[in-house]
Amino acid sequence: MTMSDAGTTIAPLRDFVVALTELVAHRPDEPALLAAATPLLRRLLVDERWLPAELAQPHPQHYRQYLLHADPLERFSVVSFVWGPGQATPVHDHTVWGLIGMLRGAEESQRYTLDGDGRALPHGEPVRLEPGEVEAVSPRLGDIHRVRNAFDDRVSISIHVYGANIGAVRRSVYPAEGGRKPFVSGYSNPWVPNLWDRSKDSATP
Ligand code: FE2
Repeated sequence: MTMSDAGTTIAPLRDFVVALTELVAHRPDEPALLAAATPLLRRLLVDERWLPAELAQPHPQHYRQYLLHADPLERFSVVSFVWGPGQATPVHDHTVWGLIGMLRGAEESQRYTLDGDGRALPHGEPVRLEPGEVEAVSPRLGDIHRVRNAFDDRVSISIHVYGANIGAVRRSVYPAEGGRKPFVSGYSNPWVPNLWDRSKDSATP
């Protein structure tokens, strides 16, 4: 298992999960929650060695969404989004708050808004997310976007946090011809990483 490689430890992810669990327990409103969670996510993006190699693997045809942790009360979930070269999402929404933190490579996000007929139209310029940077989405801030790997020749990885068990949320994609189609994303992995084997912590002699 790559997770047990010398010098690697999943402790940063565990620390992030613990801090976020404490944060949501205080039931902050969305602006307060995003303000407090953003620096926690930034800290997780400093060094990517905590991410198990199994959960950083691209798929040749489409992006992958690996569940790293789901809160037992489904108040939040943490996901690694792995983009193969040139891969992109459809235009989609989230329905809950989300934070997107760039871990490796870069991605481009184009916001959309709905016109009077419910057709999704690009809104503003695409935003490029570089390693260490964090972007927020939510119904309050703007919830519809299309995201793509900014690179055609390499893998990019972002770490996402959402205010629900995002793989189970009933959401929508917005086809170019108009209207919306329901979708539930699910996850690419049948197992989640073990956060709790503290014998692997780097501080352990
Ligand atoms: Fe998204």
